[in-house]
Amino acid sequence: MAHTYQTIELKVDDNSIAHLTINRPKKLNALNNQVLDEIDLAIDTIEMDSDVKAILLKGAGDKAFVAGADISELAELDGPGGEEASKKGQTIFDRIEKLDKPVVAVVDGYALGGGAELAMAAHIRVASESAVIGLPEVSLGLIPGYGGTQRLPALVGKAKAFEMILTGQPIKADEALSSGLVNKVTDNAEEAAQSMIHTILKNGPVAVLKALQAIRAAGSPVGFETEATLFGELCETEDFKEGTTAFMEKRKPDFSGK
Ligand code: COA
Repeated sequence: MAHTYQTIELKVDDNSIAHLTINRPKKLNALNNQVLDEIDLAIDTIEMDSDVKAILLKGAGDKAFVAGADISELAELDGPGGEEASKKGQTIFDRIEKLDKPVVAVVDGYALGGGAELAMAAHIRVASESAVIGLPEVSLGLIPGYGGTQRLPALVGKAKAFEMILTGQPIKADEALSSGLVNKVTDNAEEAAQSMIHTILKNGPVAVLKALQAIRAAGSPVGFETEATLFGELCETEDFKEGTTAFMEKRKPDFSGK
């Protein structure tokens, strides 16, 4: 179903890439309730639309990816409301991480608080040299509530996560790259992210899907078992036959996605 959005934009380009843009540039794309609801709706569309093969997640304007949860809304929260708001953000960001299509975030400018948490829910982060990433919630008397205390340690290790979350101090692109928080830093992050998506989409579509599922199981008690099951499933696919045959015939594979 096509939705009309006020705070985000969702456009599918000719290469089957959905461009999901957080679009409140005057507020540095801060995530208010409406933005979260609209991201949730956009995920419904992205999940259902078989024409969408990958997602490019970005912020509008030239200053920020997303400068955090909307502090004017946060300021109104009481205990039960705060827990509910945290669970809502967690659930929506979890849906992004669990998408069976690759999600690449373009981190251009500020990615703070909920913005850093949104970027961390993507599978891959490509940053511009101007990226400033941090979890400053303690400076507001809070902790990250949209998954940041869980995803940051998984990406950068507990020591760096303690440092970033306890000091609340943001890091710049070079430090984000060396600590593993972003995958790449470049002067044109959007172009680099698109190019990475094109590379991904040249591969066997079923393999890409199963790779997402297998990596998602990393660290869980059934991680290795999941990998073996999915590996076996892939051995039954036409893409596997085509990929291996093409290699032996010294030609490029023509995957059917079956
Ligand atoms: N929530 C609500 N509004 C926000 C926001 C947020 N997280 N981040 C920025 N904005 C708003 C500002 O209030 C300002 O609105 P106004 O023009 O109506 O006053 C507008 O966006 C532009 O921001 P401004 O602070 O003027 O830009 P700047 O370039 O001087 O500073 C930041 C940029 C990112 C350093 C600063 O906006 C900031 O510290 N934002 C909050 C970051 C944060 O703590 N996020 C975590 C929240 S959990």
